[in-house]
Amino acid sequence: MHTEIKPGIHWIGIVDWGLRHFHGHELSTNRGSTYNSYLILDEKIAVVDTVWAPFTDDYLAQLRQLVDPARIDYVITNHAEPDHSGALPALMREAVNATVVVSKKGMDSVPGHYHQDWRFKAVGTGDTLSLGRRELLFLEAPMLHWPDTMFTYVKNDALLFSNDAFGQHYATAFRFNDQVDPLELEQEALKYYVNILTPYSAMVTKKIAEILALKLPVDMIAPSHGVLWRQNPLQIVTKYQEWAAQQPQPQAVVLYESMWHATRRMAEAVGDGLADAGVPYKLIYASANDRNDILTDIFQAGAVVVGSSTVNNGFLPSLAPIFSEWKGLRMKNKIGAAFGSYGWSGESVKLVEAQLKECGVTVAHPGILAKWQPKPEELEACRALGRAVAATLKGETKA
Ligand SMILES: Cc1cc2nc3c(=O)[nH]c(=O)nc-3n(C[C@H](O)[C@H](O)[C@H](O)COP(=O)(O)O)c2cc1C
Ligand SMILES: [Fe+2]
Ligand SMILES: [Fe+2]
Repeated sequence: MHTEIKPGIHWIGIVDWGLRHFHGHELSTNRGSTYNSYLILDEKIAVVDTVWAPFTDDYLAQLRQLVDPARIDYVITNHAEPDHSGALPALMREAVNATVVVSKKGMDSVPGHYHQDWRFKAVGTGDTLSLGRRELLFLEAPMLHWPDTMFTYVKNDALLFSNDAFGQHYATAFRFNDQVDPLELEQEALKYYVNILTPYSAMVTKKIAEILALKLPVDMIAPSHGVLWRQNPLQIVTKYQEWAAQQPQPQAVVLYESMWHATRRMAEAVGDGLADAGVPYKLIYASANDRNDILTDIFQAGAVVVGSSTVNNGFLPSLAPIFSEWKGLRMKNKIGAAFGSYGWSGESVKLVEAQLKECGVTVAHPGILAKWQPKPEELEACRALGRAVAATLKGETKA
């Protein structure tokens, strides 16, 4: 159901309650998502982004209730990714008088997806477009999270269309941040940041500083997924500044994989050691948990201690996709250590340490190995490892 978010500006998106996987199956979306598209009714008529292709029919039906598509002047495509541009070809078949407005990099990505000879207008940071009563200002935001990403700001309404930045995969009954559970909202906004934006944290910091320096009033931030920030809209900007800084937090994750509970018992002992030293931790059994949620927990921890037994001269395979994605996210400012049980050759601890280093983690203490099921003194060594990691972490987080 379309919603008027400002006089003459309508949300015309789709709520996808059933979505559980995004980017193929690479990102879990346990609370669904929304594809936010907007319609600005002024002397000139503009659409900002569209929706994912499977929802094209419902999307166009909703749009037609508000305007004859032939009257649309501009289709502003802030980002070419198909979750926002999927309905563009169908819309452009009806919006016969429309110009597609893209960033300079969008001149590569939008034609790169659709290969159509639409009328294009490329804009850059600082360019404006008058709709009659309203004026739009464009702000390129490269790598937040694609080269083509841009923001569109409506001057008269102090409204920022931020595309994927500040978004959340979060299906809800209502459209605004003050109408949903704030804890769910923060969790989804954080999970989104961690899994999509972490590698570009330096750009996030720079872009936010650049936009704040423009001193544009911001009354509402309307991202392309999830709820719109109208109550204290800058709260999410402050959160992004915090997340992008990646200051080490005084909490830990003990992540482990184990076949016969030997490494699990070691993991619990590491946790006991952390708690002895006053550091809160989460104990995470890798194969039983969602990879994106694990990475969100890792993101929030200043210390990550990882355990695996040795299997076929390696570490347990359930850890491999976690390390693989973790490396790509290029997280910063973490310390860690490794541990694990073995039977005869015991390579896993060294290999886990090598993985941690590739993930940018400083391996702060020597790993602990236990042969077969751990003996009491080996469990005590694991507790000592927990205490040692806690001590190092406390040193790092003392501001
Ligand atoms: C299929 C299989 C392959 C294994 N391969 C190795 C190996 O290559 N080197 C080694 O030191 N131990 C090997 N082990 C022994 C385990 O590391 C050992 O049983 C360990 O205590 C299991 O700890 P967990 O209960 O935490 O999984 C293997 C065990 C299994 C079941
Ligand atoms: Fe995207
Ligand atoms: Fe998106």
